[in-house]
Amino acid sequence: MKWLITGAAGMVASDLKRALTGRGEDVVALSKSDLDITSTRRVQQAIGDARPDVIVNCAAWTRVDDAETNEPAANAINGSAVELLAHAVNRVSSRLIHLSTDFVFDGTKRTPYEINDRTAPLSAYGRSKLLGEIAAAHAERHVVLRSSWLFGHNGPNFVEAIRRQIVKGTNPLRVVEDQKGRPTYTPHLAEAIIRVAHSEANGIFHYADEPECTWFDFARAIVEELGAAIDVKPVTTAEFPRPATRPAYSVLSTERYERVTGVRPASWREGLHEYLHA
Ligand SMILES: NC(=O)c1ccc[n+]([C@@H]2O[C@H](COP(=O)([O-])OP(=O)(O)OC[C@H]3O[C@@H](n4cnc5c(N)ncnc54)[C@H](OP(=O)(O)O)[C@@H]3O)[C@@H](O)[C@H]2O)c1
Repeated sequence: MKWLITGAAGMVASDLKRALTGRGEDVVALSKSDLDITSTRRVQQAIGDARPDVIVNCAAWTRVDDAETNEPAANAINGSAVELLAHAVNRVSSRLIHLSTDFVFDGTKRTPYEINDRTAPLSAYGRSKLLGEIAAAHAERHVVLRSSWLFGHNGPNFVEAIRRQIVKGTNPLRVVEDQKGRPTYTPHLAEAIIRVAHSEANGIFHYADEPECTWFDFARAIVEELGAAIDVKPVTTAEFPRPATRPAYSVLSTERYERVTGVRPASWREGLHEYLHA
C-alpha cells in the first residue's frame, strides 16, 4: 500500500511516518513547505504524481485559541483545503483518511459520544474542523477519524505544559477538573490510523486511549510519573477563562473502532510512561 501524509512535520504525522517506515511501507511524507494543502494546483500535482492508495491528512490549523480571531484562516486550512484533497483523491481513485477532533461536540452529554451523535462545536476551531469533516465526505472513499487530547514528541502538548510548570517551581499546580475526555498518545493514534486504513471500512471512526479522565487526573499522573513533590489542586474552567470554549465532556466512544479492528484502545497511562521515560 502506498501512503501520502500531509502536514508531515506535525505531531501525529511524525509518529505515523515512523510507524509506517518501520514496517517498510511505501510513504511519501510532505510537510507544509513541500505541499501547502490550500493550493489547488499543488494538491492536484502532488497527489497526481504520487498516486497513493491512501492519503492521511494530518495538515491542520491546530492553534485552538488563535482560531477565535482567525476563523477564515482556520476554515481555509481545516475546511476548504480538505475539499481540494477530496477532489484530488477521487481523481486518482485513492482513499482519504482525515483527522478530526472531539471539539466538534458541545460536551453536554454525560455518556461517551458515538460516531453519529449530533455535532455542535463551541469554538471557531471546532467549526472549522466540522467543515473539514463535511468536505472529507466528498471523497468517494473516506474515513473521518476523530481523536482527543493528544500528546506526543513532535508538538506542544499538555504534558509539556505541566512539565514546564514543575521546572518553574509552581506549587501547587492548579488544573481544571470539570472537563472530561480521553488523553491519547500519538504513537497509539498512529497505530490506530494504520489499522483503520487496513480495514477498508469507511465513514466516521473515533480513536482515543483508555480510560476517560479529567485534566486534573491527567496532571496528577504526570506529576506522579515525574516523581515531583508538588501538590495538584482542582480548579474550575470558570477560574481559567480561555478564548475558545472547550466541551466540558468530550469522551469519545471507540466502539466502532474496536468492532472493526478487533483491538481495544491502548492505555494513555502506559503511553505517558513511555513518553516520559523511554
Ligand atoms: N493536538 C490535539 O490535541 C488534537 C486533538 C484531536 C484532534 N487533533 C487533530 O489531529 C490532526 C493532527 O494534529 P497535530 O496535533 O499533529 O497537529 P500539528 O502538530 O499542529 O500538525 C499540523 C501540521 O500541519 C501543518 N500545516 C498547517 N497549515 C498547513 C497547510 N496549509 N498545508 C500543509 N500543512 C499545513 C502545520 O505546519 P505549521 O506548524 O508550520 O503551520 C503542522 O506541521 C489535526 O487534524 C488536529 O485537528 C488534534
